Amino acid sequence: MNTIRIHSYIVFIILSISVQNKSQICKNTPQYGECSTNSACGCFHMIGANNDTGICGFRWLACSHLLLCNSSDNSCSQPNTTCVQHPQCNHFPVCYPVTMTDQSICPPMKNKNNLKWKQNAITVAGGNGQGQQLNQLNLTHGIFIDKNKNIFIADSYNHRIVEWKYNAKEGQVIAGGNGQGDRMDQLNYPSVVIVDQQNHSIIIADRWNRRVIQWTNQTQQILIENIDCYGLTMDRNRFLYVSDQGKQAVSRWKMGEYNNEGTVVAGGNGEGDELNQLKTPAFIFVDEDQSVYISDWNNHRVMKWIRDAKEGTVVAGGNGQGGDLNQLYHPQAVIVDDLGQIYVADQWNNRVIRWCEGKQEGEIVVGGNGLGGHPNQLNYPHGLSFDNEQNLYVADFGNDRIQKFEVIL
Ligand SMILES: *[C@@H]1O[C@H](CO)[C@@H](O)[C@H](O)[C@H]1NC(C)=O
Ligand SMILES: *[C@@H]1O[C@H](CO)[C@@H](O)[C@H](O)[C@H]1NC(C)=O
Ligand SMILES: *[C@@H]1O[C@H](CO)[C@@H](O)[C@H](O)[C@H]1NC(C)=O
Ligand SMILES: *[C@@H]1O[C@H](CO)[C@@H](O)[C@H](O)[C@H]1NC(C)=O
Ligand SMILES: *[C@@H]1O[C@H](CO)[C@@H](O)[C@H](O)[C@H]1NC(C)=O
Ligand SMILES: *[C@@H]1O[C@H](CO)[C@@H](O)[C@H](O)[C@H]1NC(C)=O
Repeated sequence: MNTIRIHSYIVFIILSISVQNKSQICKNTPQYGECSTNSACGCFHMIGANNDTGICGFRWLACSHLLLCNSSDNSCSQPNTTCVQHPQCNHFPVCYPVTMTDQSICPPMKNKNNLKWKQNAITVAGGNGQGQQLNQLNLTHGIFIDKNKNIFIADSYNHRIVEWKYNAKEGQVIAGGNGQGDRMDQLNYPSVVIVDQQNHSIIIADRWNRRVIQWTNQTQQILIENIDCYGLTMDRNRFLYVSDQGKQAVSRWKMGEYNNEGTVVAGGNGEGDELNQLKTPAFIFVDEDQSVYISDWNNHRVMKWIRDAKEGTVVAGGNGQGGDLNQLYHPQAVIVDDLGQIYVADQWNNRVIRWCEGKQEGEIVVGGNGLGGHPNQLNYPHGLSFDNEQNLYVADFGNDRIQKFEVIL
């Protein structure tokens, strides 16, 4: 024990001198699970919606160094520490020095740069024509994949949310499905569904009802009303983010505290194409630093607003509508991987394109073979998601199917 302690002091001192602090996120890894080529590192789960997201850090720092996080909001007042779970030290979350999570101490296991996917997809949901049978879909928007590879689908034109269990031949209705309408048990063109794994509920952008609604075991609760919601996501601190196409803004709410307005975190300066404006914000993504990525649908660009920014930066597209590699044409879903690479469902180009921040153009990941129904084609792709093995799923809107593009390892 003493040697470990001394060792950790030394490492700590060395690292206090370096100023890099580039840490690695570990997803779908157990607490203390392997996350680095350095076996002295392990995954520390962070506090948040998903217990399977963590930060990869040196494991053997003496517990006596670690103060508890602020119990009211899990913040850390000590500089350069972050709140993590460390049950071997304390059953309350503790503040861990970010220097101990630097990639120079805990190098990533493999370089996930330049991942590629098979160009012919497998249909994992729908694909049986448009309709309302349980094995069918009708113009799907957002999708959510949980850690067991179950697929949750905003089956928009069927006014329902369906769950297709891993490898299932048909889905089950888990919300709506009671016709189009505004009763509590009805939905009206839902656009996005997310799963709150902490209390087993689902949260839905119930678009034409202009509300965000939570379903827990067939019990509904309206979270936000009178909002032209489209995109919806939650960050690891359980803040909810909603894109509002009426206000041309993205707003943030703390779970359980739904005042009328929320906090505007992007846009809100009228419709337009300035850097502080949006024009029909669609899907959104929030990264570990609470930067918000917005597919700015009618500006044919993806914007990134870092936390507390007054304006965004263009991180994809922004060169007018079109099909060149430096252009987008009505972008829908946007997701960002652990390396900060940005994946966009480029709706009218029928492709998924990947951009790296700062680059002048993107590269086609899948699709881009014209509008169609072949396994290598898409028809106005909307939702996007990865599963825990980096397979890429696309909500292939016009083909009424969910396509899985397998990663090539
Ligand atoms: C925190 O880290 C930054 C760089 O990551 C460094 O510049 C700063 O001095 C550190 N603050 C303290 C109090 O150690
Ligand atoms: C903990 O956080 C709350 C809310 O942000 C704040 O009011 C309080 O002062 C914090 N406590 C400490 C000890 O920092
Ligand atoms: C798909 O949904 C739309 C809108 O709800 C409806 O008009 C159409 O008939 C549906 N298509 C089928 C094949 O059920
Ligand atoms: C998340 O982790 C905490 C601490 O390990 C545990 O108390 C809680 O039940 C977990 N939640 C879920 C949804 O697994
Ligand atoms: C929902 O129902 C399931 C099965 O009946 C139960 O195990 C679970 O605890 C319920 N969840 C909530 C939040 O009530
Ligand atoms: C889900 O969790 C949140 C935050 O802990 C809480 O506010 C909400 O009431 C819970 N919902 C249900 C249905 O239990």
